[in-house]
Amino acid sequence: MIKRFCYDPIITTGAVVKDLPYSNGSPEPFTVTENGFTLDMDAKTRVYGLGETMRGINKRGWIYESRCTDEPFHTEDKRSVYGAHNFILIDGKDRFGAFFDLPGRITYDIGYTDSDFITITPENFALDLYIITGDSLKAIVSEFRSLIGKSYLPPKWAFGYGQSRWGYVTEDDIRRCADQYKDARIPLDMLYLDIDYMDSFKDFTVHPERFPDLKAFAAEMKERGIRLIPIIDAAVKKEEGYSVYDEGHEKGYFCKDENGEDFVVGVWPGKSVLPDFLDPEASRWFGQQYKALTDLGIEGFWNDMNEPALFYSEKGLERAIEEVQKIDIEKIGALDFFGTRDVLVKLQNSDSDYKSFYHNTPEGRFAHYDVHNLYGYRMTKSAYDALCELRDEPSLLFSRASSIGAHRYGGIWTGDNHSWWSHILQSLQQMPGLNMCGFLFSGSDIGGFNGNCTRDLLIRWMSFALFTPLMRNHAAFGTRSQEAFAFGDTEVFRHIITLRYRLLPYLYDEFVKAVENDTMYFRPLAFDYEDDEIAATIEDQLMVGDSMMIAPIYRQNADARHIYLPEKMTQVRMHEGEISTEELNKGWHYVSIPLGDVVYFTTSPIPLGEPVRNTSEVIWEKQDTEN
Ligand code: NOJ
Repeated sequence: MIKRFCYDPIITTGAVVKDLPYSNGSPEPFTVTENGFTLDMDAKTRVYGLGETMRGINKRGWIYESRCTDEPFHTEDKRSVYGAHNFILIDGKDRFGAFFDLPGRITYDIGYTDSDFITITPENFALDLYIITGDSLKAIVSEFRSLIGKSYLPPKWAFGYGQSRWGYVTEDDIRRCADQYKDARIPLDMLYLDIDYMDSFKDFTVHPERFPDLKAFAAEMKERGIRLIPIIDAAVKKEEGYSVYDEGHEKGYFCKDENGEDFVVGVWPGKSVLPDFLDPEASRWFGQQYKALTDLGIEGFWNDMNEPALFYSEKGLERAIEEVQKIDIEKIGALDFFGTRDVLVKLQNSDSDYKSFYHNTPEGRFAHYDVHNLYGYRMTKSAYDALCELRDEPSLLFSRASSIGAHRYGGIWTGDNHSWWSHILQSLQQMPGLNMCGFLFSGSDIGGFNGNCTRDLLIRWMSFALFTPLMRNHAAFGTRSQEAFAFGDTEVFRHIITLRYRLLPYLYDEFVKAVENDTMYFRPLAFDYEDDEIAATIEDQLMVGDSMMIAPIYRQNADARHIYLPEKMTQVRMHEGEISTEELNKGWHYVSIPLGDVVYFTTSPIPLGEPVRNTSEVIWEKQDTEN
């Protein structure tokens, strides 16, 4: 059952698809206070949800913020990253879900200040609140998902493996990468183009020397079974003579400052302006720009920098430079030095900038700050709506920033993680929260984006990520190569990625079922085994679809781990491409998983397909073969 409570929302976010009547009274079991909502927790209460946030599957014991944040350091102390996902699910003496439908900032203190208390504080208290009850955790999630509408379903080929790197600069870099995958006989479906393919980082342009004929090159790659997936950034370079800028400027489609002038910011292309995705006309116009690339045969995109990420604003930079110039070099002390440095650091993604530009929406003019979390979501919608018009086939689309609502239009990736062991676990722990909020097509940068990857880290990361719907290896500019061929011996990677393709009939089927039935593809064990006290505490294993459980290794040099089986299961082991099985009883097991082996568990047989080169060769119907 869903009850809706009104606290005078300032804008329709579009997150929900059902128009429910308002309920009277108070949103029990919450107590409403002057600042928000509170709830006391008993010792056993667990809290799930909050989408992409850091830390565990059970969110109890930390403080989180809903604020789409361009955050390059995904450390435990962070309260927010790129997505703002306002659904929580409480399981204790009270069991219910709550969705806070508002586009501004909200703080969730889940036993941080007082370990027995939840305090939820929306910054401007202008929201719709939905309280969702049901017979089980899974039922509550499905009820919530029916409220927010069906999740995005990408084309089948998007479930293949993709390679990306910021730093493949020319078409020859891409071709060489494709050749190396082919030589190593490792399946591959997608190669991603990062900002290097653009002319001066201008959206919807192609660098004339680096990619002299992108149409021919995309066709050449497609012929080899590989799709090119270019990046699109939110901000548009401010440059007269660049048609996207000229047209958007003339038609008033960019966000404005308090005087009605285009608000100028600094991002990759230098001085740039921000399309007003909250203005339906501007949003439609931006979406139509994708045609420049779909006309060249492009079938999918990743949308980036759409929190929006701001390195600085033009005015902020002017003020900062003035301040820095006041420094007396003769007298500067250590504290002055750090203060001065911070003047520039604090320019990035600053609230004062978010408060200084405006959106023109059908419901009136809003300061960006008050509707901040809608920006990435509406960029995804702009692209999705246009791609549906521009192409007859479904397109691949995923985004960095998001809020609930965006799950209907695209997937998300979890942004700029690091080549750290802890980030394998972090990625695993983010998946169920994302699934609850409707983001089914998701995954993290395999191998880690920032920092240098190692062979063992990549093997272990892939052994987990082969189960994530979005399976993409991506790395930052200047980092060590981390392609599946980069560490010399390619066989181990061939076996792991091949297993992904052999499992696709199951994984894809389970994904489609999760879309159609508003269920979760990834679930904490607690959701399937509600009466099992041990299952409820497991933070490093997940259920995948109806009949699979995974328990990857995420520690350096570990070659075995404890795994809890909540019922009798079949252990399936892939060793050097060969599959073997063993029946294991309910309970704890210490399972040896040497580097390169992949182990998963099944509750009923999961057929495997034949090894293939890419998704065009996959037989998607489940065959009755092994395991
Ligand atoms: C930030 C994105 O998160 C990352 O994936 C991308 O490589 C860089 N921007 C450069 O485009």
